[in-house]
Amino acid sequence: MYKIRPMTADDYDSVIDLMTRTPGISVRDADSRESTVRYLERNPGLSFVAEIGGRLGACVMSGHDGRRGYLQHLVVLPDYRRRGIATALVERCLSELEGLGILKCHIDVFKTNAQASAYWEGQGWTLRTDINRYSFVRTGAENA
Ligand SMILES: CC(C)(COP(=O)(O)OP(=O)(O)OC[C@H]1O[C@@H](n2cnc3c(N)ncnc32)[C@H](O)[C@@H]1OP(=O)(O)O)[C@@H](O)C(=O)NCCC(=O)NCCS
Repeated sequence: MYKIRPMTADDYDSVIDLMTRTPGISVRDADSRESTVRYLERNPGLSFVAEIGGRLGACVMSGHDGRRGYLQHLVVLPDYRRRGIATALVERCLSELEGLGILKCHIDVFKTNAQASAYWEGQGWTLRTDINRYSFVRTGAENA
């Protein structure tokens, strides 16, 4: 059995460890401890972890900008996949966001991450082909 609870700053090391060991997940400067704590403080109660057998086995982070919700870093340890844990974590995010009036959410997925794409499409999320996402990085922040 697993237990879902809100992610706290104390979970940082375990979450980064989970992400670092997972192919398809990119760890950036924006995932520093300082940035992650800032994100959690700006978006209280919207990121979650799942504890399984006394260890942190899964995580998801979410937040919003007042209009739209954004999910990121959904990871489940390989041993615990296909038990509905990702779906339960995402539902917690969507439910909390809905409570704040946020009814539409986005997630970025690397085109090379076929497994993640299969997951999101299977959950009814729509692949956007009508939008090009542009990003801009200030000089000196190549891994932003
Ligand atoms: C994608 C991921 C989060 C799914 O986690 P999970 O806990 O196994 O997902 P769930 O058990 O909630 O899956 C629910 C349903 O999604 C679909 N699904 C899940 N993983 C799938 C996969 N690899 N391929 C196709 N469909 C998949 C299935 O329909 C599944 O239901 P089923 O098990 O009854 O068939 C997990 O595989 C993972 O951590 N992958 C590596 C990290 C990653 O790529 N994260 C996404 C970044 S955007």
